[in-house]
Amino acid sequence: MTTQFADRVERVEPSATLAISNLAAELEADGVDVVDLSVGEPDFPTPENVVEAGKDALDAGHTTYTPSNGIPQLKEAIVDKLDGDGLDHSTDEIIVTPGGKQALYETFQALVGDGDEVVLLDPAWVSYEAMAKMAGGDISRVDLSSHGFQLEPVLEELAETVSDDTELLVVNSPSNPSGAVFTDAALERVRDLAVEHDVTVISDEIYDAVTYGVEQTSLGSLEGMGDRTVTINGFSKAYSMTSSTPTRCRVRPTSSSTPASRPCGTPTTPSPRCGRRSASAATCSWTCSQTTAPRYPSPTAPST
Ligand SMILES: Cc1ncc(COP(=O)(O)O)c(C=O)c1O
Repeated sequence: MTTQFADRVERVEPSATLAISNLAAELEADGVDVVDLSVGEPDFPTPENVVEAGKDALDAGHTTYTPSNGIPQLKEAIVDKLDGDGLDHSTDEIIVTPGGKQALYETFQALVGDGDEVVLLDPAWVSYEAMAKMAGGDISRVDLSSHGFQLEPVLEELAETVSDDTELLVVNSPSNPSGAVFTDAALERVRDLAVEHDVTVISDEIYDAVTYGVEQTSLGSLEGMGDRTVTINGFSKAYSMTSSTPTRCRVRPTSSSTPASRPCGTPTTPSPRCGRRSASAATCSWTCSQTTAPRYPSPTAPST
């Protein structure tokens, strides 16, 4: 039998990050001392309270399906966390997904159609391109690399790129791979452009706890952005839960006509209850840590 793959499979390249990671693993297996900066693996263990919450959930028999958009306690904890970031959302605007990547994938699928323009800020995390292409989008790029990876020096170029034809702009601050945290002035200009051209913006804030002393502003907290920003965040980087806890959050624009319970027209596979309970523990300590510095146990540089 000859299996015919769908066209969309041909549109994406294999992940360069994973290729490097696999190569590093092979070299390490051969005894080579490798400094692997490929996948974004935090350099500290998952906090003990999170591990304990996961174990307790398993012991308590929380091993069955959950509501597909997240257990209510976790969504409430996420609302509190977002409130601390200046975002005003209710639980029905939150979707918990099996990973930040899944949240992003669903968002691209929900918002981008064939030929729609997606604007990326380069260098961008590798998966945005694949997700945009799989959704049928056409990518436009603004290059930040010759400006210290900051957005502010290229705002004019951004203004020339974003137009009424733009469907989606992806902002990732703190950025992977550069680590740059965009200034408030730059984010305000993004807001002005998004409002002027009626563009939806993904604000991927998964590295918000890895800022080395620089305060990061959540884009959706700016006036005018609450109903046009899809905020992506999660636990993998802030709580070193890259494997153990497949739960992340996403906030839909409040003005969307699609209810949050139907992120892209198809249900998401619910992530395990035990993982969601670990995430609840993480989110609760996350929320508390907003008021009790230090916010973050042991930062690691973003690398993928
Ligand atoms: C910028 C960025 N966003 C989102 C993700 C997805 O994170 P996860 O699926 O592990 O929650 C990653 C992972 O490396 C990332 O680097």
